[in-house]
Amino acid sequence: MTVSSAPGKVYLFGEHAVVYGEPAVPCAIERRATVTVDARADDHIRVQARDLSLDGFTVEYAGDTAERPDVDVPEGLVDAAMGYIDAAVEQARDAADAPDAGFDITVESEIPLGAGLGSSAAVVVAGIDAATRELGVELSKDEIADRAYRAEYDVQDGQASRADTFCSAMGGAVRVEGDDCRRIETPNLPFVVGFDGGAGDTGELVAGVRDLRAEYGFAADTVESIGDIVRAGEERLYDADPDSEPTADLLAELGRLMDFDHGLLEALGVSSRTLDNMVWAAREAGAHGAKLTGAGGGGCIVALDETPETRTALRYTAECRDAFRAELDREGVRVES
Ligand code: MEV
Repeated sequence: MTVSSAPGKVYLFGEHAVVYGEPAVPCAIERRATVTVDARADDHIRVQARDLSLDGFTVEYAGDTAERPDVDVPEGLVDAAMGYIDAAVEQARDAADAPDAGFDITVESEIPLGAGLGSSAAVVVAGIDAATRELGVELSKDEIADRAYRAEYDVQDGQASRADTFCSAMGGAVRVEGDDCRRIETPNLPFVVGFDGGAGDTGELVAGVRDLRAEYGFAADTVESIGDIVRAGEERLYDADPDSEPTADLLAELGRLMDFDHGLLEALGVSSRTLDNMVWAAREAGAHGAKLTGAGGGGCIVALDETPETRTALRYTAECRDAFRAELDREGVRVES
């Protein structure tokens, strides 16, 4: 039996635009998906998944039978989650040159499903690590990131960047621009996450931006402007001392850029009333800045605030189901046992 875990992430800047070759800066957070893999004597796959939302629910299936969770997630999202697990298994079989390997797989996740915190990437990264180790093969973090990207790419019909999977495999803050992926050293940024209890459909949201961008030149310009925000933000991060607490100036500047980024994502049609209301609640509580994180449509926002004010205000916001501080996870994928 092998157990591996990998972190979720928030986007400081750059989601959606990263799909079109602009840079993005996602940051891994200390909320993990843990995948337990047991090799089987036959070639069957049996999956048990638990706690795929912050509330927690159970989905158990073997073969095609799935018991639906009673939570507010779009139709098909659980199937999509199982699609990611299947894709991870295919990558592990390929990496270990064991096309007929069968597994019993258990997924336990602290990351809400489809809510912008990189749940699918974390499951795929941890799943590939655990399944390959179970077959006696140890992959580098770079290879896990690459294989996890290919798994996401297949499940999302070619509409995926390397951002989520690279960030989950490596941990820390990362910078992704096309195939160029690297870690960047940052001070410990004070992230606060607000969760509306819902989820968005990444494929649909990415397709919506693609159509808008194809139809209107100004939508294409908006995507490029998000890239400009990322470039401005990363300059500030490079100037900062990663071993010290972030300065007030740095937080103010990053916050202003996050606000700007959220405005452009809203213009691209990927925000929602609940996300906007949580963003405004965070700003009014004194956060340095706030924006949606991930594909949007519902799910989570991320704010910057070193005090408890934003978290408290979010908890009293009607649209917010949960709010929590999210520490930067510097470790990435790891084997647990
Ligand atoms: C989803 O977490 C982030 C998107 O930019 C899609 C991707 O990068 O693959 C919307």
